[in-house]
Amino acid sequence: MPVGGFIPAADFFTSLSVRRFPTTIIIRAKSQLDYLPEPDIFHDVFGHVPLHADPVFADFLQRFGAVAAVASTEEETAMMARLFWFTVEFGLINEGNGTKVYGSGLISSAADAANALSLSCEKRPFELDSVISQPFDIDRLQDVLFVIESFDQLFQAVSDMEQRLH
Ligand SMILES: [Fe+2]
Repeated sequence: MPVGGFIPAADFFTSLSVRRFPTTIIIRAKSQLDYLPEPDIFHDVFGHVPLHADPVFADFLQRFGAVAAVASTEEETAMMARLFWFTVEFGLINEGNGTKVYGSGLISSAADAANALSLSCEKRPFELDSVISQPFDIDRLQDVLFVIESFDQLFQAVSDMEQRLH
């Protein structure tokens, strides 16, 4: 679903809940290749969209949208934002012979991806309570990220959040 830029969080999550992904249609300047504070078509289409072909990840994202859309308090919204940040945007996964990036913020930024896989970024095993209590800063390279073993963990995490929010 094409959008011109940021849309209200509630609209974004409602779209996810019906398997529609709001996609920015502007593209960043060459000077912003390594870091852009807001989404562009490269981040959205190259970074996000390919993973939507994975059935488990796609179901997770739909469920995430449904759960986040009903988060009502500031604390609930913050927890869902952290879960989104440390998975959809900046997630790492163990696969085959090593740790790989799957988060779109990493896929669409060479500098962020290199940092995430370097020793300067602490990689912790994915655990829901740790993730939703971990603050993040969008304006700098990440120094803590979380590693999953499979996308099933994401679906389980969002199911657990649904229980907590109701
Ligand atoms: Fe994104």
